Amino acid sequence: MITIHFIAADGRATSVQGKPGKSLMEAAVAAGIDGIAADCGGLLTCATCHLHVQEPFASSLPPPDGEELGMLEFTAAPRNAASRLSCQIKLTPALDGLTVQLPATQY
Ligand code: FES
Repeated sequence: MITIHFIAADGRATSVQGKPGKSLMEAAVAAGIDGIAADCGGLLTCATCHLHVQEPFASSLPPPDGEELGMLEFTAAPRNAASRLSCQIKLTPALDGLTVQLPATQY
């Protein structure tokens, strides 16, 4: 298991355990993290699993593919260079300590 830190829009931090091989979205939903809706269940059709990945992890992740980039056009909260869809981030041991910022809204 690896540790993931979710920072809510109000600054509140929650640390959860995630299993390598699962997606970041799945770890968030399993832990009941508010702010990740994941309406499509990871099918890359909703953009309600949007979050911002903090460094140094943002730079070390594989970049978003064309489908993720296309869906990132539909995030409710403003998108920035650190924006990702959490259903497209696969957890690996190298991501232990991953810290992500949740947007204020997914709708
Ligand atoms: S859960 Fe729908 S795009 Fe990620």
